[in-house]
Formats: sequence, structure tokens, C-alpha cells
Amino acid sequence: MESDLSQAKSRSHWSSTFGFVMAAAGSAVGLGNLWKFPYLVGANGGSAFIVIYIILLFFIGVPLVIAEITIGRFGQLNPVGSFGLISPRLKWVGGMGLVTGFILISFYPVVGGWILYYLYHSFVSFGENPDYAQIFTSYTSNPTYPIITLFIFSVLNYLIVALGVEKGIEKYSKIMMPALLVILLVVTIRTLTLNGSWEGVKFIFHPDFSKVTGKTILAAVGQVFFSLSLGMGALLTYGSYLSKKDNLFKSSISIPIIDTLVALLATIAIMPAVFAFKFEPAAGPSLIFVTLPAIFAQMPMGTFISVIFFTLMLFAALTSSISMLEGLVSYLIDRWHWKRFTATTAVAIVIFFLGIPCALSFGLLKDVSVLPGKTIFDSMDFIASNILLPFGGIMLSICVGWIWDGGLRYETIIVKNQKGNPDVVTNGYVFNSCLREITNQGTLNFPFMSAWIFIIKWVAPIVVLAIFIDNLY
Ligand code: PHE
Repeated sequence: MESDLSQAKSRSHWSSTFGFVMAAAGSAVGLGNLWKFPYLVGANGGSAFIVIYIILLFFIGVPLVIAEITIGRFGQLNPVGSFGLISPRLKWVGGMGLVTGFILISFYPVVGGWILYYLYHSFVSFGENPDYAQIFTSYTSNPTYPIITLFIFSVLNYLIVALGVEKGIEKYSKIMMPALLVILLVVTIRTLTLNGSWEGVKFIFHPDFSKVTGKTILAAVGQVFFSLSLGMGALLTYGSYLSKKDNLFKSSISIPIIDTLVALLATIAIMPAVFAFKFEPAAGPSLIFVTLPAIFAQMPMGTFISVIFFTLMLFAALTSSISMLEGLVSYLIDRWHWKRFTATTAVAIVIFFLGIPCALSFGLLKDVSVLPGKTIFDSMDFIASNILLPFGGIMLSICVGWIWDGGLRYETIIVKNQKGNPDVVTNGYVFNSCLREITNQGTLNFPFMSAWIFIIKWVAPIVVLAIFIDNLY
């Protein structure tokens, strides 16, 4: 414990609030926004899904983002160390986050590798063979290529994390995130100026609630957690590099705002093109890798758009996967005093080997399943996104709402006057360690505090638990 504390004092920090926001938004903005969100919208009734997503985001996602970052900034340590400071009995919650990190990073960089291949393909032989379904299948089922691209993607990941918080993660996020926004705008303008794109815009903005089922809501909850990088300690770790002087509330809420804008913009960039070229909006996961390249191939300036689109995907995937890695690395640095270089190297090597079975899940190992009927890749995705992240969210709300420093609670304080009669009666929330952390020891305003407390204590754990149980059965 003592060594944990001395470590906390010498910890690196973001050089600016902007640096933190770019890094944390970089973690949130990823394949979840550019790949999953548009196809979920396409498959779940257009804006009906968007409406449900935004409600869940607002009432559950945003409050939990604040809670997770608060624990990190309070602890100034990795997930295990920070939860341990709240109560030594809670270390396992942080440990579960690290395990989730390992699972996520076993499959996420595999997709990063596919993106590298598509980028390469866009440069060298774009549009030569228009059968993108075949290109996708033959690439992902090849026994060696996906491992090579996984390796290259992992090396990029490794280099950024090895350079450290300020010189690696922050520096590269500050370049890649703004670049990503510009590229996304260029692609959006290009597709909106296609003939027939208006149908796609209508599809996005006209809700079709007949497509909404229980499954839609499950998908939306899973997506909120996955897209916000919530529930596994990535935001906690980034929060642990925040200075005690920063305005935690303001910095935290910019993350879901940027994340949602990018998801919506990506949908507006993709759906109109799908309609303009009369493709199927409900194509599912293959939307980005099969439908979109086929569209680019028919579009004026298609090669250019394809190159910049996959560059965008690459940046988004990198800034997310470095945040999965950082939690594990910071644990080894804080707890076992490893040097950053050693810790990153060790984690990167383990992760690369963990990734290989996932990379082979579409070819050599396609008949191997971990969960019934699911390939290794799909099982890892399901366990992490649909089980461990929401479960992490439930634990987060229980820890903050009920356990940390006596939990969030309301008290009536009666001050008696000299005669012993009640004099001043004040009702208020007890400013425990959690609320003091968010408000910088009571010096900052915390807007919507009572609503936040109500959600953290009651709404978030109950709603997520209900959906979670439903999901399992
Ligand atoms: N939020 C990332 C995305 O949208 C994925 C992610 C999940 C990153 C969990 C870190 C932790 O792609």
C-alpha cells in the first residue's frame, strides 16, 4: 500500500485538459463508432435505435463515465490500486477490469489488422476486383496474412504506449483525433452530395419503431458500454493521469459528447451512400468491409475516399486499443515497479500471442468455439462487450453509490442552540470523498448532482442488471 502511495505521487500527468480530452475521447471513439454503430442503426430501424441509444447514453452512460473517471483521479493509480484505495476488499473489481482488457485486446487489434490490409489494398489495387465479399472472406480466412497485419497493428500500439502518457498517448491522440474529425467530415460531404443520398438521410431521421424488440435494447446497452470504453478501467486509468486541479465534471462530459457526435456523423457518412447505390442497410458487420468498399469503387473519387476512410478507421482503432493496453501497463508499473518499457514489451508480447487464435477464427480455427455456436473471436467479443463491461458498470455504480466512504447519502443535520432546541436544520448530501473529488474539495460546482446521485445509486445498477439478466437468458 505504501509503495502504491509513493507511486501515486510520482505519477505522470496529461500536459493539459485538452490532452486528456483527446486521449479519452480517442479511447471512446473507435470501431464501436465507425463500424458497429452504423450497422446497428441499419439493422435496428434507423433512428428508432438512435433514440434508444441516446436515452441510455444520457441516463446511464454519462453518469457512469463521471463515476469511473472520479475513482481514477481519486486513486491516481491503475484500476486495481484505485479500487483498493476505496476499499481493499474491492481490488477484485479493478482486477476484473484488467481481465476484460486482456479479452478485448485479444480481438480488437485483429480488426485493426484488417483495416491495415484494406488501407494497403486501397493504395495498390483499388476497384480492380469489385467482389468485396470474396475479398473480405479470402483475406480473413487466410492462415497467415491476418496474423501479419495483427502483428503490424500491435507494433504501432506498442510503440505509442511505450513512449508514455505525455509523449506517446497524449501526443498521438492530439494529432489523430482532430485529423479523424476532418477526414470524417470530408467523407460525409462526399456521400451527402451523391445522387439519391437523401433516401439514406430520411432513413436515419425517420424512426421505425416496428423494428424495435427486446434485442434492440440489449444491443443498445452493450453499445453504450463498448462505445464509451466504460466498465473496464480504461477511463479510470486515463482519469488517474488527470491533475487534481482539473474540472473533472467538464472534462468527463466532453467524452460522451464527442463519442456520440462521431457515431452519428459516421452513420450520416455511410447510410446515404448505401441508399444511393441501392445496397442493403441491414447488412450487419460486413457493412464497412464489404458494402462500403463496393460503394467506394463505384463512386467518383472512390480511391481517394477509400484511402482516407481507412486511415480514419486506423486512427480510431489505434487510439482505442492503446487505452486497453494502458490499464495493464499502468498496473505493472504501479504495483510491481516495472519500467514502462519492460511492462509494455511484456504485455505486448502476451497480447500478440493471445490475438492469434482470434485472427484465425475466420479460417483455420473457424470450427473451434469457446461459447456454444460462437467462434473464438465472437466469443471474446460477447464475453467482453455483453457480459464483463456491463457487469463492470454495475459494480462501478455499487462501489460509488453504496460503498465508497459510506456511499452517497442524504442527511438532515440539526444544530441545536444553547437552550437545546433545534435551531438550524439543513438537509443535504454528505460531502464524502467521492463528492469532494468531483468538486475539487467543494470549490467547483457540480451541475445535476442530485440527479447523478439518484442514477448512480438506483437507476444504473437496476436497469443494467435487469438488461444483463435478460441478455444471459
Ligand atoms: N470504445 C472503443 C470503441 O468504440 C472500444 C473500447 C472498449 C476501448 C473498451 C477501450 C475499452 O471502439
